[in-house]
Amino acid sequence: MTHDGDRLVTAEADGEDQAVEAALRPRSLDEFIGQERVREQLSLVLRAARARGGTPDHVLLSGPPGLGKTTLSMIIAAEMGAPIRITSGPAIQHAGDLAAILSSLAEGEVLFLDEIHRMSRPAEEMLYMAMEDFRVDIIVGKGPGATAIPLELPPFTLVGATTRAGLLPPPLRDRFGFTGHMDFYAPAELERVLHRSARLLDVPVDAEGAAEIAGRSRGTPRIANRLLRRVRDYAQVRADGRINREVAALALDVYEVDACGLDRLDRAVLHALVTLFGGGPVGLSTLAVAVGEETETVEEVAEPFLVRSGMLARTPRGRVATAAAWRHLGLVAPPTAAGGQSGRRAQPGLFGDEGTAPGQGPDGAFG
Ligand SMILES: Nc1ncnc2c1ncn2[C@@H]1O[C@H](COP(=O)(O)OP(=O)(O)OP(=O)(O)O)[C@@H](O)[C@H]1O
Ligand SMILES: [Mg+2]
Repeated sequence: MTHDGDRLVTAEADGEDQAVEAALRPRSLDEFIGQERVREQLSLVLRAARARGGTPDHVLLSGPPGLGKTTLSMIIAAEMGAPIRITSGPAIQHAGDLAAILSSLAEGEVLFLDEIHRMSRPAEEMLYMAMEDFRVDIIVGKGPGATAIPLELPPFTLVGATTRAGLLPPPLRDRFGFTGHMDFYAPAELERVLHRSARLLDVPVDAEGAAEIAGRSRGTPRIANRLLRRVRDYAQVRADGRINREVAALALDVYEVDACGLDRLDRAVLHALVTLFGGGPVGLSTLAVAVGEETETVEEVAEPFLVRSGMLARTPRGRVATAAAWRHLGLVAPPTAAGGQSGRRAQPGLFGDEGTAPGQGPDGAFG
């Protein structure tokens, strides 16, 4: 991913996140905040398995980065009182790598396969059989003399995680007994995440301070926790260590994360679109040159959240700023701006799926 690592509002984990996340992870389903539907469904799956004294069905967790997939996989193991083995698609290059892991699993163990969409083809095919029949064929030798030695596996639960469920081949997707679709968190849920983290980090934060941070966290607990740490720094150096609305707002202004969670790059894109191109439509490469970034950076780093928050539309004729974008920059939208001028839809689709903000369809009102 381009340039994304050093952004305060990236949903991907950086080094510091990885170091502190272990301490902030909820350890049980009851402690896990939000995602009510996934939590209820999963709780039924796990309870039923426990009652039967068996292993739960294979579970697929899909959703954008930082929403709690890894956390949930660990909770599944903890709730089952089972050990967990953690690996990822890119780590499994050869079918043999997977065979080695599968053949060493203990009965009931949870195998967590992160980024499962990035597994190699041969490994994937071995996984099909392991998931369905709890069996793998170990190939011994090469060429015409090669033989397949079947190996029975103990019952185990595969938990797959992916940010790109659409990339999974259907035969793989079909072998999961349960799929949990994780969605962006509502501000009130993020406030609860923040209060919990603040308690664990021993940072005093009041309700308004938490609300201020939550509003800038892009629906993502990982970002909320990261912003909390930066606000804590500010509170300790420039205030008395306590986080209230004023301290949170001042701190995040210093870090250039605005009231909607947009950072410098996001605003630069909107600003160029609106001031240089009258709101568009303008081609991606032209827009990228105008902000001095690579097209991939604009497309993959800035645009997804701008689209999700209903400020930018990708149309067949180019990028278009919606009325919400003009308003966000404190400007008056021309009557032709998509989304109209009424304040009705300040942030449409902010908590919906990526790219499904209302009015963003291919045949939206941009023609
Ligand atoms: N429901 C939640 N309640 C409290 N904290 C949460 C919740 N979901 C996630 N978090 C926090 O957010 C951080 C990121 O979560 P996690 O690592 O599980 O995300 P992920 O979906 O696996 O991300 P990625 O796609 O990058 O692997 C964790 O440290 C965890 O503390
Ligand atoms: Mg993860």
